[in-house]
Amino acid sequence: MSTPIVAARELTQVYSVNRGFLRAPAKLQAVTGVSFSVEAGKTLAVVGESGCGKSTLARMATLIEKPASGALMLDGLDAVTPPPGEAKRLRRTVQLVFQNPYGSLNPRKKIGAILEEPLLINTSLTKAERTERARAMMAKVGLRPEHYNRYPHQFSGGQRQRIAIARALILSPKLLVADEPVSALDVSIQAQVLNLLADLQDELKLAYLFISHDLGVVRHIAHDVMVMYLGHAIEHGPKHAIFARPLHPYTQALLASTPSVAAGKRERIVLRGELPSPLDPPKGCVFSTRCPYVTDRCRSERPVARQLDERLVACHYAERFLAEAA
Ligand SMILES: Nc1ncnc2c1ncn2[C@@H]1O[C@H](COP(=O)(O)OP(=O)(O)OP(=O)(O)O)[C@@H](O)[C@H]1O
Ligand SMILES: [Mg+2]
Repeated sequence: MSTPIVAARELTQVYSVNRGFLRAPAKLQAVTGVSFSVEAGKTLAVVGESGCGKSTLARMATLIEKPASGALMLDGLDAVTPPPGEAKRLRRTVQLVFQNPYGSLNPRKKIGAILEEPLLINTSLTKAERTERARAMMAKVGLRPEHYNRYPHQFSGGQRQRIAIARALILSPKLLVADEPVSALDVSIQAQVLNLLADLQDELKLAYLFISHDLGVVRHIAHDVMVMYLGHAIEHGPKHAIFARPLHPYTQALLASTPSVAAGKRERIVLRGELPSPLDPPKGCVFSTRCPYVTDRCRSERPVARQLDERLVACHYAERFLAEAA
């Protein structure tokens, strides 16, 4: 087995939330004890409802935020406390692509300048070499030569996402963290950008941490899937296992709510109720307040994730669901 490009162990993030005058700030645990790894050429998709901690995980993986606790290795180096002199190289190992590329592209700069800027700051390439790199990267992501002298507003949403991808890749990172990269695009354009990401992964052996709430997209692009709920990874393993036999009731509900991926005669679980406040999470299983199969044990004892049928699952009754699925 090769060394993973990214390896996270028990990552936890805690935010301090102001509750107003004369009240002590509350602690909000946005991510709790999440572990994962991604090898070169592979994609881990992170899925879950709004507020479950996906972007927080992305910010930790891209070194924008330090975790409150836990370990993060990037390309074999400690990314939480980088070895002396390695911080710059570590930051180049990982790049982030956002949902809304327009917000992250400088509207006053032409595409050529946008792509060459990271090279100017981080390398000693000459102007001619930088231009050549930028033009080569534009071709790689499917932009035409004449686009070099255009401004971001002169592009469609799909083209802008191609520019954002080109900029992310210009310094040859090994890990690309994509936070809902196609959620703002039309379905037909989504497919083009997903195909581009897949081609780039094949060619450059990139590792992807791909965040999405859309299971149709995830099924298209993922090798592994991690399902999050209220900051916890509740099921995590190979895509084929999770899509064929989801064992956590929350995963079952997510899959059942996406018609394009819902499998055969599976019983349909409808999620009831609101997501609990992360400031006051349920004591036992985090999903216990909405789970149709909840028991007293679920309300009092938090299930520990364990290996079962190729994946990790955190539900007291996962064995029972597996027996039923067989
Ligand atoms: N800087 C912050 N300060 C305080 N709370 C935060 C901060 N950032 C995120 N949170 C809280 O942490 C939790 C996780 O947020 P996060 O943005 O990671 O969720 P998400 O899964 O990306 O959601 P979405 O699908 O809506 O993008 C939420 O309850 C959010 O309100
Ligand atoms: Mg988010």
